[in-house]
Amino acid sequence: MEALTYTSTYRTNKTRFRLTNLTDMHIGAASCDEALLRKDIGRILADPNHYCILGGDVFDAIPRKDRRFQASDMAEWLRGENAVPQAQLEYGIELLKPLADQGRILAILCGNHETALLRHSEIDLYRGLVHGLKRDDRKIGLGYCGFIRWNIDRNTRKDPESGGCHERWSVNIFAAHGSGGGLLPGGHALTLGRLGGYYDFDLAVLGHRHVMQSLRQTPLYSTPQGQIRDRHRVAAFCGTYYLSFQQRESERMNVNYAEEKGYFPQPVGVYTFVLDPGKRSIRVEEPPHDYPSEKGSEKGSVKNGKRRPKKSAA
Ligand SMILES: [Fe+2]
Repeated sequence: MEALTYTSTYRTNKTRFRLTNLTDMHIGAASCDEALLRKDIGRILADPNHYCILGGDVFDAIPRKDRRFQASDMAEWLRGENAVPQAQLEYGIELLKPLADQGRILAILCGNHETALLRHSEIDLYRGLVHGLKRDDRKIGLGYCGFIRWNIDRNTRKDPESGGCHERWSVNIFAAHGSGGGLLPGGHALTLGRLGGYYDFDLAVLGHRHVMQSLRQTPLYSTPQGQIRDRHRVAAFCGTYYLSFQQRESERMNVNYAEEKGYFPQPVGVYTFVLDPGKRSIRVEEPPHDYPSEKGSEKGSVKNGKRRPKKSAA
């Protein structure tokens, strides 16, 4: 566990900051919706106030000797590679490099796929990723969970002698890859509801369960002046880029991991959080693409990550 700090500045109350939790990308899996991931990276880069967390399970990280390994669930670009984890690391760093170059990565988490690989094969993809994306002295590695204190300062030109800082909104973020499971929305809601009893946060972002579900709470408190105030906090499981189903045309056994485990089909994509420093509010924003996504069954089937046209019913 780590506690990191980051400071951003703004001038006008119209400014909005965005934070996207790029969690459970599973780079290297055929089931990774890489086209959507690239689109979201582009969306973050297009807005200078848009930041991200790499939320763990960045890599699928399943080598050949792993009992979960299936050749049919390897991305096309991995075919013929002997060192699967190493190839995933190099590919991932190349893909995520523009975010690091522009200083948009607030923190990097490791997930259970990275820790399992380290435990069984002594290959540390998380360490390699942090090393590959670090650009200065600022710590970006958070471990499996931790805190990010995001200080959002309002600067005014009229106030240069005080360093320009006019007022500060200090947002306390708890970020964790997540754990546990369960299939039902009630189970996820229970976990999110309990979280505030153990961690103090304004925003909690979790992954692992490959679902998008959020919970807003407004605990009350009294001020020293005897006024009642409410505090706003948001907790969310943030989604995934791992497709929960894929239609393939081959009759060979090529089972998607989520299908095998009996996970319910879920929309692909991740939440973005919109921070309004003027109002000191945090809003949960759904992914901007429509459901079903382009890879969904209503528009066509998918074979090895490539869209195929839907056959006419006639
Ligand atoms: Fe995952």
